[in-house]
Amino acid sequence: MQKITIAIDGFSSTGKSTIAKQLAKALGYIYVDTGAMYRAVTLYAMQNKFIGGEQENLVGLVTELPKIALKFVYNAELGFSEMYLNGENVEKQIRTLEVSRNVSDIAAIGEVRTKLVEMQQRMGAEKGIVMDGRDIGTVVFPDAELKIFMTASADKRATRRYKELLDKGEDVTFEEVLKNVEKRDYIDSNREISPLTRATEAIEFDNSDMGLDEQFERMHNYALRIISKKEKGTL
Ligand code: DC
Repeated sequence: MQKITIAIDGFSSTGKSTIAKQLAKALGYIYVDTGAMYRAVTLYAMQNKFIGGEQENLVGLVTELPKIALKFVYNAELGFSEMYLNGENVEKQIRTLEVSRNVSDIAAIGEVRTKLVEMQQRMGAEKGIVMDGRDIGTVVFPDAELKIFMTASADKRATRRYKELLDKGEDVTFEEVLKNVEKRDYIDSNREISPLTRATEAIEFDNSDMGLDEQFERMHNYALRIISKKEKGTL
């Protein structure tokens, strides 16, 4: 069976990873959450006081990039892969609001992006992959057969994220979460290198008022149609 590459980009907390996981499962594809990679580098930077303390030392972080080993390890019980930083499972630590506060600054560093984009391209070299992030359809896989761009109002996204963090036992207010969502939107969309933009050929989904199940169905159908065209040699 012919395999394709599916690139899902969009704003934070638009349900990208939920849909990407569902699509990967339905098609028997690999799923890669690139946000987890930027978050793991951010956690390393925080643990080693390159960011988040009194003084930032981003040059120091760049020098240490070769020391940062990232790996996705599949957890059969959960049904998805978890992020390992230098051999340690950091899945929980990378999802905190503290990491979210610093991640956009780390994701704006050119050397960090070069390292992670190379890793992502290697992971997708054989196709049969669903990858989500901010620059997948524009930079990582500009030739992806299916590109999706997800968006929703900041208020809706912050509400979802706030509930998730409360469920995880984090002590946060809705205002803090909304501020973080808006700040990340701004930095991610305005950074110099690979800013978050919709690839011209990407299909846009605004899920402010659309359920994730309905979106999944529509995306799945798009994917099946493209795969069928590839099989027939008409793509
Ligand atoms: O998808 P997420 O919220 O976990 O991503 C965390 C941050 O990482 C997000 O604010 C922007 C950055 N990011 C990026 O710049 N490029 C990607 N491909 C994925 C994430």
